[in-house]
Amino acid sequence: MTYPLPDRFIFGAATASYQIEGAVAADGRTPSIWDTFSHTAGRTFHGDTGDIACDHYHRWREDVALLDQLGVDAYRFSLAWPRIQPDGSGDGNAAGLDFYDQLVDELLDRGIAPFVTLYHWDLPQAIEDAGGWRTRSTAERFAQYTQIAHDRLGDRVKDWITLNEPWCSSMLGYSTGRHAPGACEGDGALAAAYHLALGHGLATQVLRADPTARVGVTLNLQPVQPASDSPQDVHAADLALMNSNLLFTDPILAGRYPTLARETYSAISDFSWLREEDLAVISAPLDFLGVNNYFPSRVAAVEYDEADPARRTATDLGTHDVIDPRGETTQMGWPVEADGLRRLLVWLRDSYPTLPPVYITENGRACDDVIAPDGSVDDPDRVRYLQEHLDAVAAASREGVDVRGYFCWSLLDNFEWAEGYQMRFGLVYVDYPTQRRIPKTSFGWYRDRILAERAAS
Ligand code: NOJ
Repeated sequence: MTYPLPDRFIFGAATASYQIEGAVAADGRTPSIWDTFSHTAGRTFHGDTGDIACDHYHRWREDVALLDQLGVDAYRFSLAWPRIQPDGSGDGNAAGLDFYDQLVDELLDRGIAPFVTLYHWDLPQAIEDAGGWRTRSTAERFAQYTQIAHDRLGDRVKDWITLNEPWCSSMLGYSTGRHAPGACEGDGALAAAYHLALGHGLATQVLRADPTARVGVTLNLQPVQPASDSPQDVHAADLALMNSNLLFTDPILAGRYPTLARETYSAISDFSWLREEDLAVISAPLDFLGVNNYFPSRVAAVEYDEADPARRTATDLGTHDVIDPRGETTQMGWPVEADGLRRLLVWLRDSYPTLPPVYITENGRACDDVIAPDGSVDDPDRVRYLQEHLDAVAAASREGVDVRGYFCWSLLDNFEWAEGYQMRFGLVYVDYPTQRRIPKTSFGWYRDRILAERAAS
């Protein structure tokens, strides 16, 4: 059963620079934290790096032709800061900017709207060496880089996403160490989360100088529920909600820093980096909120076995996610439950009266895709996942949530960060040794769904 989506709903596909571009030393690009991290032994599956990735830097015309074939209204991609402002300071790098300039023109020629993410995790290494997101100056530098990108592309790019998933940049980057730069800190991770939010606010100020720009931010958010109604699990779920959602939604959508965060983290941080006057900058009104969601969270309490609070990181909350052992999970081990996306959207609407229109800026699943002897790639699990999640979006819309678009993650199989190339999220299979692109069954399904939706509206 397929449910209708709102009129003028935008269908898109998404990618990110470090995950697809390759060409890491081309045209003046300098290393990012992900180059350093992926080249450090033991950090990524198989030692995979983004050195070549999908070679999109050289094959972008072919990839835009695929988007055209797919029939999407919009394409969400990110700019690599180290291509545009190598070393993270000074003037823009013309060669790096030329790449995105051509890409934008080609998209517009084919009637595809560019949705540009300014920061999808590839921080110039030079900025990390100066303290990275732990420091306030990185937020200020991000605003300068935003200005450079807008000066060159702002006449044609109208939809801007300041950050992608700042929770991952801060918590996986500076607390668990699973992502670049691989730090395991308490205060550093909280400071990073805050400075990312501030960077978003300062970049928004820059973009607002252009009255034609539409500005948003993409957050990865979870619908969180306790695994049981025991007070311990309910408290664990409150903590998890604070860490995974409120740490960003409260400052950005409500102009407040969550009280529960101050209480919970008082042993690991004095919050000396927080300035109350920043909150007005961070919470400036947005044109849209980008929501990335892949799975829901069911949270239970765990007993601390460490007495020393100073050793706690900003993700160590004494909680853990419970996955139903009977339920379906993806190649990533993530539970599949589409109604979680509906619940999340309704939660956002009910929690934040100022919620702007929402785009689902990422949703999709990893499958263990293989090329069949006849050369095709059949991914029925992904088709079902996408269909169910689009239905969940339609259900939220019927419940009154203003959701205006959906971007499938991802156009192409690509470098899945610490998981390397083994995880395949694409609508298009990438045969890495030959760089051949093979549209999967889901590609045809998504194209047909877009056509059917247009015919109906
Ligand atoms: C979120 C990230 O934005 C993207 O880079 C990643 O590949 C997908 N989720 C899948 O994990």
